[in-house]
Amino acid sequence: MKPHESDTSASARPERLAPSLHWFHLIALGVGAIVGTGILTLIGVGAGKAGPAVVLSFVFAGLVCACAALAYAEMATAMPHAGGAYTYARLVIGERIAWLVGWSLILEYSLVVSAVAVGWSGYAAPLLHEICGLPMRWMQGPDAGGSANLPAVAIIAAVAAALIYGTRESATFNALLVGLKLVALLLFVVLAAPDFDPANLQPFMPFGFAKQTGADGVERGVMVAAAIIFFAFYGFDAIATAAEEAHDPERDLAVGIVGSMLVCVAIYIAVALAALGALSYERFAASPEPLALVLRELGQPLAARFLGLSAVVALPTVILAFFYGQSRIFYALARDGLLPAALAKISRRGTPAGATAFTALLVGAIAGKFPLAEIAALANAGTLLAFSAVAASMLIARRQRPPQPGRFRAPLPWLTGPLAILGCGYLFVSLPRQTQAYFLIWNALGGLVYWIAAQRRRS
Ligand code: ALA
Repeated sequence: MKPHESDTSASARPERLAPSLHWFHLIALGVGAIVGTGILTLIGVGAGKAGPAVVLSFVFAGLVCACAALAYAEMATAMPHAGGAYTYARLVIGERIAWLVGWSLILEYSLVVSAVAVGWSGYAAPLLHEICGLPMRWMQGPDAGGSANLPAVAIIAAVAAALIYGTRESATFNALLVGLKLVALLLFVVLAAPDFDPANLQPFMPFGFAKQTGADGVERGVMVAAAIIFFAFYGFDAIATAAEEAHDPERDLAVGIVGSMLVCVAIYIAVALAALGALSYERFAASPEPLALVLRELGQPLAARFLGLSAVVALPTVILAFFYGQSRIFYALARDGLLPAALAKISRRGTPAGATAFTALLVGAIAGKFPLAEIAALANAGTLLAFSAVAASMLIARRQRPPQPGRFRAPLPWLTGPLAILGCGYLFVSLPRQTQAYFLIWNALGGLVYWIAAQRRRS
């Protein structure tokens, strides 16, 4: 099928969900899925790898994401019923590359669930310790000196149960939680800004720009931090899944995707500058709850508690959004015959219960034992491939057939598209070597699964 053929079938659909979402709902949906562990926790990891120059890491990762977001918006509006990078690549590039993209998306969506659960636990653990007296040993992974991160496992189990039961976020509830996250971050900026001391930003770039390995064997640099911080920016793809419910998909999806991206870039830079200016990055780099720690150090314990509580209440929606996306990816791959049909089975409640339970076991085990930075880095590797594929799909689709008038068209596509692909490539090269190796192993496994599926279909 050629790229735009899906349009006609889409418009001829007999049934359509009520078009109740406007662009501001979609921005809320996007910001709801984007703002999470990246800014709340990985900002510390990033600062440890780049020093105060982590601000540049935010700018670089944000720019690459914004270019990818433009391509995403164009593809999402050209194929409003399609459903993500896997389908765009399948329609425009071909099945084999699409399979790699789908396989990478499994990595992205699953590991984002694990990573956000670990980030959630970082803010929830001190509260659980204080309120219920739960020992910290059972609320931290082995890397932090604990035995297992049980709160992270528990929140995954709870979200999985909600999904199997058939819960979806309501747009109103989501908007409330988005509001809560934004108020907490705004409060952070307002309270930390008066303590801004330029001395805290010196030396600005202690570990250089490009990836370099220190005497301790640890890889650092602005780009290494950018490759991790990239995690903070994605989630806008979740908007594409709401395409059927958009009031005016052509306009609203594009405004929703690009708008939520820009809102987040602005917020992140403000939060990063406020944190780095108020306290030396070395003091919060290793904290599982860096922003709360900054506020406590500034003598604002109440605000720190409010920020922690907001994270605990609002982060599960990020987990829900990605977990939901994961079940759709399994469904799409199984529907196309690339995964066992059992994974596309729908329960009596209308949810893919088997695929959800399977995912929960997998991501729960990872969240219980592995460090946040490692999980997030591997999730990023999968996302970088998916974003490059979306940008490539946009360029190829443009050559095959110009976009229809009235549809969103990415501005300067022959600049933003290649920038997205090259930027994603540079971020991938900047990932830890170990992550790159894991990613290659994952894709080799994917190649094997594809080969087995192809043999089965032939026989
Ligand atoms: N952008 C999302 C987060 O930071 C995945 O949690």
